Amino acid sequence: MNVYDSERMAEALGGQGYVSTNTPDDADMILLNTCHIREKAAEKIYSELGRYKGLKAEKPDLKIGVAGCVAQAEGAEIVRRQPMVDLVVGPQSYHKLPQMEARVQTGRRAIDTDFPEEDKFEHLTKRPKARRGPTAFLTVQEGCDKFCAFCVVPYTRGAEVSRPAEQILVEAAELVDRGVRELTLLGQNVNAYHGHADGLAGLIWKLSDIDGLERIRFTTSHPNDMDDALINAHRDCPKLMPYLHLPVQSGSDRILKAMNRKHTAAEYIDLINRIRDAKPDLLLSGDFIVGFPGETDADFEDTMTLVREVGYGQAYSFKYSARPGTPAAEREDVPADVADERLQRLQALLSDQQKAAQNAMVGRNTTVLFEKTGREAGQLVGKSEHLQAVHVVGNIDLIGTVQSVRITTAMTNSLEGELL
Ligand code: 5AD
Ligand code: SF4
Repeated sequence: MNVYDSERMAEALGGQGYVSTNTPDDADMILLNTCHIREKAAEKIYSELGRYKGLKAEKPDLKIGVAGCVAQAEGAEIVRRQPMVDLVVGPQSYHKLPQMEARVQTGRRAIDTDFPEEDKFEHLTKRPKARRGPTAFLTVQEGCDKFCAFCVVPYTRGAEVSRPAEQILVEAAELVDRGVRELTLLGQNVNAYHGHADGLAGLIWKLSDIDGLERIRFTTSHPNDMDDALINAHRDCPKLMPYLHLPVQSGSDRILKAMNRKHTAAEYIDLINRIRDAKPDLLLSGDFIVGFPGETDADFEDTMTLVREVGYGQAYSFKYSARPGTPAAEREDVPADVADERLQRLQALLSDQQKAAQNAMVGRNTTVLFEKTGREAGQLVGKSEHLQAVHVVGNIDLIGTVQSVRITTAMTNSLEGELL
């Protein structure tokens, strides 16, 4: 979602005459978009700001801004620790960047971390018409009402809000006109989407009517919002790709309860079975937290058991990070060395499963949407239906098209194939 937000912020400033640069030395403004989900991500912002301090001393006209969820949660703290920061904008207010930029140009500081009444998306600068790459993110839902005990999202992104389907369909059609062939619908809790009478499945079916749009994905989902309509869309909608990121976080009922996840491990497994009945070929992805306060060896073994039973083609796993203001932050941490060891064991298992999923592709035919040229001459890179990177030798004209490919080799993080 930060990639999507950054794009929209760049577009908002485009109206003020800004263009993007990859070189901080060339910049008139450096805007850092930030993540608050774990402490490490949040702390990165201060070292990053430190790097630009010298540049700001050399170029006093350079403006420095902080956007995103760290800005939302720690706006005042950022300005206290780094008084050179000119602009602080939360994730719900970045449509106000043009006015904020104007204020900053008068030598004043601009801070906005409100949750405004108006719809940010209605007020954003219109998206440009220039051609762009074949894949795009599209935010359809923001915020979360689930209040998992470890998570800052309900505080930084606010309550769950769905964009109206009509608004999304207009943005999607514009992106397709600009060359986009695959859309990934985004939301912190995307399958709770309710901007269409038939929920996320209703929106997916509507989007699948857009000519030229060939692939639809969505991320990230909560197990309790996985309704039958969405499961059936995985079975029946040819444009919906066979990939599902469905985090469970833990395999222990005790920990799931302490996390306020509101389902058991058995209920999750039952759900996975129903989804696989509908779409046997689906590749499953997940998120896991190890070392949540109170997690015992037995709880962790329950997570390992669940992972073995489910089988993930891809997954993310994290060491629990206490986040200020969340209920779990008050509880006693698992010792760091214990959490480290659990993380290593879990990651080894998940990595074996990912390798097995990659190897299982060898000899299979799949379709690939080609996105760019590869490092080697004549090479093209794209994504399989299961979101695996695929390399082939092929003509550059195939970029932006979906082609049938036979997978010949599995590498650690990608596949090689030949065009059919
Ligand atoms: N500590 C560690 N991991 C976290 N996540 C969210 N909050 C925390 C935290 N406090 C992970 C969850 C979530 C993913 C986006 O980040 O696994 O699904
Ligand atoms: Fe955070 Fe996801 Fe839980 Fe919402 S459902 S509180 S975003 S982990």
